[in-house]
Formats: sequence, structure tokens, C-alpha cells
Amino acid sequence: MQICILLAALILGTLVGGCHIIPVTDSGSKKGVGSIIGVSQANMREEWRMALINELREETAKNDDIKIITADATGIVNKQIQDIDNLIGYGIDLLIISPCNEKLLQEKIKEVYDSGIPVIVMDRAVEGFDYTLYIGPDNEVIGQQAGSYVVELLKENGGNVVALSANPTSRQGAERLSGFRGIINDTKGIDFSELPLVVETKDAAYDTVMEYKGIVKNADVIFAYSDSMALGVCDAVRELGLEDKLMIVDCDGFTGEDEGIDLVSEGRLKATVSCPIGGKEAIDYALSILNHENGVPKQVILRSNVITKENAEESLRRINAESFDDGRRIKVGYSQVGQESNWRLANTKSIEESAEEFNIDLHMENADQSQEKQFEAIRTFIDEGVDVIVVSPVVETGWDEVLREAKAAGIPVIMSDRNVVVENPEENLTTTYLGADFMEEGRRAMRWIRDNVKGDGDTMKIMEIMGNEGASPTEERGKGFKEILSENNSYYIAYSDYGDFTFEGGREVIRKYLLNHDWDIDIIFSQNDDMALGAIKELKEQGIKPDEDVKIVSVDATSEAFEAMVRGELSCAVECNPIIGPQLMKAIRDLCSGKQMPFRIITDEKIYDQSIADDYIRKRRY
Ligand code: AHR
Repeated sequence: MQICILLAALILGTLVGGCHIIPVTDSGSKKGVGSIIGVSQANMREEWRMALINELREETAKNDDIKIITADATGIVNKQIQDIDNLIGYGIDLLIISPCNEKLLQEKIKEVYDSGIPVIVMDRAVEGFDYTLYIGPDNEVIGQQAGSYVVELLKENGGNVVALSANPTSRQGAERLSGFRGIINDTKGIDFSELPLVVETKDAAYDTVMEYKGIVKNADVIFAYSDSMALGVCDAVRELGLEDKLMIVDCDGFTGEDEGIDLVSEGRLKATVSCPIGGKEAIDYALSILNHENGVPKQVILRSNVITKENAEESLRRINAESFDDGRRIKVGYSQVGQESNWRLANTKSIEESAEEFNIDLHMENADQSQEKQFEAIRTFIDEGVDVIVVSPVVETGWDEVLREAKAAGIPVIMSDRNVVVENPEENLTTTYLGADFMEEGRRAMRWIRDNVKGDGDTMKIMEIMGNEGASPTEERGKGFKEILSENNSYYIAYSDYGDFTFEGGREVIRKYLLNHDWDIDIIFSQNDDMALGAIKELKEQGIKPDEDVKIVSVDATSEAFEAMVRGELSCAVECNPIIGPQLMKAIRDLCSGKQMPFRIITDEKIYDQSIADDYIRKRRY
């Protein structure tokens, strides 16, 4: 019966129970899979949501043999739940959902995912791990990019900056404005004010500018966080005769008449920060998932760019370019940080093994924890003329010069596992980061402690065993951990020391502590398994019982950590997945076939404790 309804709907191509079915026309570059993709959209009022639906339709139309069915939840959670049930009733093979409320829809998304239907979540990430893939922009970063551009525009003279609006109703708006405010408020010499907006539309933006023309006349820059609002601002500014004096900056950077890029090309907007829609990526990954391909990550954070008159044409060309993988062998230089941990050995193996599968000629250099050796390796790769350089950096900073050399040689650089912090992100010295969300790992560790380690009223003492100083997992795991810790006053960090991610380093931290203290620590947060295992060994030798006298939480979740959990020594392990070879090789092929690289490609990770360690230990491959 369901098949009959679906067939009838496909033939009619009309609305069925609120779902719009799009038949497929052209043939595409990727092999079709004879599948139906259900799209549950939060609403079809917001401009970018319509843009997403259009992009999904266009991309679907390029592929033989896949169909999409779309449903509009009109912003109502219960309607979206009903839409999902209807889509499942039509026999969809994969669900793409942009939830109208990520918290209230989390259970439903989990239910679909648990039933075996892959789920791609777009725009708003749900908490937890119960979905196949998340794709979306980072709106806070988009706002920050706009802010940094404005600071650059005004230079040291500063000026008056006005933003619309005081209280945005959309989450994207709130995040962009917060990113923008953060940068502008931190800059000396800029006077910043916000004008209230009734609704986030072109007309309301026009009315606001006209109503506050006294303030606007004294402004140097106006910031609007969407293309439609910016168009209203542009019209009002023209009406007020201020076009030559006022610079307008916005976010969205959509293509099409009177959208961001068009307004920039006409000189009506000074710049727009693009917010990629993700429809192309969603269909591409949907096909990979349906084809059971290797290399599908957990999260893809899309790249946003500042588009000005100078680069508008080039940006349009990039957006409209079709990617094409000619299958050729790609030459890659990989600078690996070292061999400090079991995690690293598994990581190296995964990268080496996947290279062949993806027809990649890999030249890997092990840097033994030395940044100097990494510089040397990168320079050798440049001399060899590799197609792509991949770096897993020992520390976050100090890379600008050598990355500029790679850029000057026209060789793109991918950051793998660990990221770098560069002086000016707008220089685009790296193409993407692929690896774990270290901040989230730190948060997960502290959330587990909060939920599982309760004291008897006294504030509990935490010992933090950190990795090597200045490495991104050290910095970010620490930050994420402290973020959750700051919400709980029953715990505090009584002692912190570096263990350099090694077994011996972890042991040494305990030894040093016991030289000057009696054992009084309730919880150890170790930033990796090797250090936790070293600490456990030393504690036992000193007569302190791990898990009984002190709870121990670590990061990585290697098989040795599982064994320690099963032995009842390690309390919990937050996963950091070293098996990133397939995702990395897929990213390299995507890059070389001309695809726009996202900001970040994040791997799939979970959390394990003693209660479930036994169920997983046999499945652990590293
Ligand atoms: O960068 C990833 C970290 O580096 C792993 O957690 C740790 O074990 C490794 O050495």
C-alpha cells in the first residue's frame, strides 16, 4: 500500500500529506543507488532554508535513480515528528533533517537512527551521538569574520559601528551577532550601538534604519546579519543619500539577484560573509552513506569566507564549479608528530593502510615531537612537489612562516588530528582540519565526573594530568573540561602537571605529587590513556587503589584502557578516534577534485565506563 502511495505521488509529483516528492531528471557523476531521501525541513519561511531545499533538489536532480521527498514542519515540533513518521511510511532510505528545535527532536532523531535509517542532521547539531552525520556552518565564527573585517576596514582610526538588531529571533542571527559583538567590543576606538528590529526582514530593516536615521548618519559601518536585512539597509541608506559615506557589511553571501554577492559586486555592500548552505555536501555524503563507503565523518563544519568586490567573481566561480575526481594517483607528504602513545601508533597505521585504498602515494615523516623536524619535513615535501601536505602538529603555534611557504608553492595543507593557531585566519594558510573535537572530549570527561562521582558534601579534589604544553589536545581538552567544571562548585582542580601524553610522563606526575603531599586526590583527569595507565601503575606501587581510592577518567579509549576498565582500575575513557585514515584520504581526494573544503571535519566518538567496557573490549581494534 505504501509503495502504491509513493508511486502515485511520484507520478503526480505533487504534495502528499505535506510531503513534496521530486522526481529525478539528469544523470550525475556519482553512481545512483535507487534510494529515496526524506527531507524534513523546520520551516520554509526563512530564506536560507528555502535555499537549502533548492540546493538539495538541484543536487538530487544531478544523480540518476535517487529521489527526495520534502516536508515542511512550519516551525512546529509535533508537526516535524509527524512529518518524519510520514517520510518513514513512504519507505525512505535516509533522512535529512533540519530540526526546528534540536533538543525536543533529539529523541525522535535517535529513534530513526536506532531503527537503522541513516540520519543527516543539518544546521542545528543535536547533543549525543545518535545520528549519522551533522553538516552545518559555525554562525559564531561567521559573525567573528564579519567583525574582524570591520575592524580591518576602520584600521587604527576606529569609528562608529551600528548593528541590527538588539534581539534576534533566529538562532543563527543570535550567534552571528554574538560573534560580531565579541570582536567589535574587544576593539579600542570603535563605538558600537545596536538598533532594535521588529522582525528579521528586508522591510523591517528598512524601517529601522529610517527610524534611527539620526544615529545612522553618524555611523561609518552598518552590520546586518542576513542578506534580506542587508537589502533593506541598502535601500534605506540610498534613500537617505548616505551611500558614499556608509559601508554596509552582512552575512549569508547568497547567489542570485539582490542577494549578498550581487550587492557586493554592485558596490552596495562592502562585504558579505558567506554562509554555505550544505545541500551539495548533504547529497554527496548521503550517497557515500547509502553506498556504504568508507570515510564518512561525524560532523562537517562548513567554511565561510569574506567576499568583497575584489574576490566576488572568483567566489562565484568556486561556488558554481563542478568537482571532478579523475582517479589519478595523488602524492601526499605527511608530517606525523611522533610515536608517543598507543593512540599515535594506531593513527599512523590507519593512515598508512588507507592511503593505498584511495590510490594515494604517501610519504610519511615521523617528527619525534620536534617542531623543527616538522618544518624540515614540510620543506622537503615542498621541494618534492607533492600535491597535498598533511600535518599533525606537535604544538599549536609558530607555523605561519612555513605554511606561507607551502601556500606560495601552491600546495594545500590539511591539518590532521591536531590543529594550529595562526596569526591571521583570513590568510587561509590551511585548507581544513580533520580530527576530533577536543573541547567536547574535555566536556564529556567532566560531565561523566559530574554525573558519576559524588562526594559526601566536601568539595572534591581533581588532579589534571595534561599532555605536552601547547598542543591543541592539551589546550582544548583542558578548556572543555573547565567549562563544565565551572558550572559545578562541588569539584575543583587541586593540582595540574604535564605528562607529555606518555606512560612514563603519567607515572612521573604521581611520583612528583607524592614527594610533597599525602594522597588526598579524589579524581584524576588524564588527557590520554597512556598517562592514565602510567599513573595507575605508580599509584598501585604506592599502595593507592585506583578506582577505589581515586576515580580515574582518561581520553582515547584504546584497548589497554578497556582492559584497565574491565580490571576495575580505570573508571571511564572518553573516546578519541585514531582511525581517521579513510576520512583523511576522502578529504584529500575531495580537495584534489576541486571541492570546497569545510572548516572542520570531525570524527565519530563515544564515551565508555566500566559498566559497558566488557561489551566493547572484543570489538576494539587498537
Ligand atoms: O592528538 C591526539 C592525542 O595525541 C591523543 O589523545 C594522545 O594519545 C596522542 O598522543
